Amino acid sequence: MITSKELREKWIKFYESKGHVNIGAVSLIGDGTTGVMFNVAGMQPLMPYLLGKKHPAGTRLCNVQGCVRTVDIDSVGDATHFTFFEMMGNWSLGDYFKKEKTAWSFELLTKVFGFDKEKICSTVFEGNAAAPRDEETASYLKELGIKEENIFYLDKSNNWWELEGTVGTPCGPDNEWFYPRHDNPCSDHCDVNCDCGRYVEIGNDVYMQYKKLEGGYEELENKNVDTGFGLDRLLLFLNGLDDGYKTDLFAGAIAHLENASNKKYGAVESDTKAMRIIADHTRTAVMLIGDVNGITPSNTGAGYILRRLLRRAIRYSKNLGIDATEMCEVAKIFIEKIYDEAYPLLVEKEAYILDEITKEIKKFEVTLAGGMKEFEKIVGGMQRKNEFMKQKDANYVEETEISGKQAFRLYDTFGYPLELTIELASERGLTVDEKGFNEAFKAHQELSKAQAQAAKGGLTERNEATTNYHTATHILLAALRKVLNDETVMQKGSNITSERLRVDFNFSRPLTPEEIKGVEDEVNAVIASSIPVTCEEMSVEAARNAGAIGVFGDRYGELVKVYSIGTYSKEICGGPHATNTNELGKFKIQKEQSSSAGVRRIKAVLVK
Ligand code: ALA
Repeated sequence: MITSKELREKWIKFYESKGHVNIGAVSLIGDGTTGVMFNVAGMQPLMPYLLGKKHPAGTRLCNVQGCVRTVDIDSVGDATHFTFFEMMGNWSLGDYFKKEKTAWSFELLTKVFGFDKEKICSTVFEGNAAAPRDEETASYLKELGIKEENIFYLDKSNNWWELEGTVGTPCGPDNEWFYPRHDNPCSDHCDVNCDCGRYVEIGNDVYMQYKKLEGGYEELENKNVDTGFGLDRLLLFLNGLDDGYKTDLFAGAIAHLENASNKKYGAVESDTKAMRIIADHTRTAVMLIGDVNGITPSNTGAGYILRRLLRRAIRYSKNLGIDATEMCEVAKIFIEKIYDEAYPLLVEKEAYILDEITKEIKKFEVTLAGGMKEFEKIVGGMQRKNEFMKQKDANYVEETEISGKQAFRLYDTFGYPLELTIELASERGLTVDEKGFNEAFKAHQELSKAQAQAAKGGLTERNEATTNYHTATHILLAALRKVLNDETVMQKGSNITSERLRVDFNFSRPLTPEEIKGVEDEVNAVIASSIPVTCEEMSVEAARNAGAIGVFGDRYGELVKVYSIGTYSKEICGGPHATNTNELGKFKIQKEQSSSAGVRRIKAVLVK
């Protein structure tokens, strides 16, 4: 049995003996330069150096780097998928190339790890318009003693490595190493291309000699090597296991979950799956919270992924029949027993990590309970509708999809990640309209943005000047009704800045200069009368009975504010207003013009 600690050490020692410097691991959280949220490969932090920048530690580097890949999160629960894994890596930055690298990988596999060279298989790039067939690597492999029939030429989808979705990043053909798990081929054609699972990829050497461009590749000046061997995968293999959760990395966590649940790992599939998910997600959460750039659960970006991981683990704790706080015990095992040497920062941050996990458990328990009721309501409603419709029409096609709006409500109001709703739905044989969810999500984001902007505008504009203009607008409207002798005059629009007011009102013709002067004088007379401005809250009904003008819509809710300027004006309005008309200064109409058919517009100022 080789332990994870021994394996890390063996890797580093071997490459140190070949002149490499151990550069240690960096943060798991992406620095934003590649658009990737987490570190997904050991080469990621080394990108600038692979492109030609000088590395302070030299041209031969090695390390064991933690990586987080959550694209396969739904596959976690089987024996070989993890959201966190460690990549054992080594690099040549324009130093050695294919000859040395093939020899060292071969030496490590056969001499250090004891793989049988007769059984080792290797795949190389078959070539395309961008890069030639990798005969060079193949010839070195043969020289080393790998059987010719165990060397395969494969296409770009297999033997080319690049970070998907990026440009300006280093990439190139790779040489992958495979080994059979047992000696029983499933057929005469059972080789590395067979999907029976006998052959397992144990690592790869990427010959990074290209830079990825928008529509092609450019040769790099440096010919680099980027090696990655998955520690979790190799550990499983070296110990003759077929289940990643049986290695020492997970043994403690699984044993704890067995004890806490009084269930046996491997006995019942759903329990086994739950234990794997709890163990994997808790481990990744520990790593993300305890990282040097640690994150905490939130509703956006990386924080949301962390939240999803934790909440999924919490849910599976319930499925397993244990208290979710057992996740803290699992976390402790990872921190204190498994990763204490490789990640000493986790030990330092232990109390903080456990606290964050506990907080999220508590938060989720509250939302989970509320959301579950809502979820049952949705499903119940759908069932009742289906039954009803089937009675009416035997050919009725049953509804089996939870709408995007319903899923969004579960997310927005009850904190249900979409994935959780999907999982719950699939347990009932239902699906979720994910596209509809994303649309609802986007619409909500746009609305919030608009509201935030409006609130910001309102706040910056809510100063003494705008308050006074607000009150002047009420007086102006009442003055117009009085001077024009028209009770049907109503406000059709209003726009107030610190500099002026602008009011649109219904009236069928331009005002005469006398009428304009009359309105101005009327407003100034009201201002000069020092009339207090008062505010009362009342029902829409009472406001109407009191003769208030304004918009009597539902949007005002049950109670409305009614602002009165003595008996001169009474309007439904949100405010704020001056407390007395004498605060307003001198009122002056600057412009009277047409706004649209049957609507006039007045711009006016208050001068102190
Ligand atoms: N960059 C290569 C990988 O991630 C080594 O597999």
